[in-house]
Amino acid sequence: MRPYTRAGTTRPSVEGAASPAMPEHVPVLRAEVVDLLTTVGKRFIDGTVGAGGHAAALLDATPDAQLLGLDADPQALAVAEQRLASYGQRVRLAHGNFSDLKIIARAHGWERVDGILLDLGLSSRQLGDDARGFSFSSGGPLDLRFDPTGDRPTATELVRQWNTDELARVIWEFGEERWSRRIARAITAARPPTGAWRARDFARVAGSAVPRPGGKRRHHPATRTFQALRIAVNGELDALKTVLPQAIQLLDTGGRLAVISYHSLEDRLVKQAFRGATGACQCPPEVPVCSCGASAEVRLVTRRVVRPTAAEVQENARSRSARLRVVERLPLTSETEGHVKPPMHHEPAHS
Ligand SMILES: C[S@@+](CC[C@H](N)C(=O)[O-])C[C@H]1O[C@@H](n2cnc3c(N)ncnc32)[C@H](O)[C@@H]1O
Repeated sequence: MRPYTRAGTTRPSVEGAASPAMPEHVPVLRAEVVDLLTTVGKRFIDGTVGAGGHAAALLDATPDAQLLGLDADPQALAVAEQRLASYGQRVRLAHGNFSDLKIIARAHGWERVDGILLDLGLSSRQLGDDARGFSFSSGGPLDLRFDPTGDRPTATELVRQWNTDELARVIWEFGEERWSRRIARAITAARPPTGAWRARDFARVAGSAVPRPGGKRRHHPATRTFQALRIAVNGELDALKTVLPQAIQLLDTGGRLAVISYHSLEDRLVKQAFRGATGACQCPPEVPVCSCGASAEVRLVTRRVVRPTAAEVQENARSRSARLRVVERLPLTSETEGHVKPPMHHEPAHS
């Protein structure tokens, strides 16, 4: 296997990431992803290679396939490197953000590919790594960055910079949390003036600001606040908006893009981007004549969103919110080649 590369960074240690105490990551909708992607060709990009579970399944299903695996997290790449070592030269790994997908693919000499997978969010390993602060019970610092080697501020730093209004807006916008103002006030009042905030202390403060209804809760009361902060810290929705048109452009005719999302904000963006790329008009309803220049680049392979079976959810609770959508690239024409869609309009959430 060719070692992963990123200008100016050193190879991270496998320690910790490969620790036996770390939970294994079980790939979500694995059979469906393999079915929908391997029918079409032999050159794949896994833009969120993580622990390499989907990547291994794709390589096993197509014995002469090659795969470029990308991840923002150097520790995840170290795990993928071990996991995928037996595939030798068929695999290359790269450290980077999928918002640079086209640049990274081209740097590896890949102008066109047959299949691209984006399995969004974080892995069970990242969640289980106490030092990263992704979990409510973590004694580690509230960090929440996928890429701790980058120059993005940590969650602790952002929470310290924002005033109550800014914090409430983030929790509302990225967490769709109805108690955002109460939570923001509680956090602002309790934040330590210096030093990192421990994730579990933050979770306790955020959670205690959420009124407790009668009966049992399904989720930790700080779930939406953590989601909001993680999205903000990593610029997750911007990265997703940026990668989707690039991924479509990288596909060869008949090539497919599969995206697994885990919450409605992601799924809404994917659905809108796919609909736009099918040539559906993006003009606002009050505009009588289409002026957005929409043209069809893809067809929908999954007309409805694909959800995990009850059996998969039973075996892997993490899969319960997963939603898979797949599009296929239509024959390339001079009109669609290199064409970037205009930004998409918002629409109400439904799947
Ligand atoms: C759900 S896990 C993927 C698991 C993988 N499919 C497997 O089977 O092992 C998501 C991975 O995407 C990475 N990630 C999230 N956002 C990213 C981005 N913008 N660019 C690159 N990697 C990203 C995370 O670091 C994490 O390792």
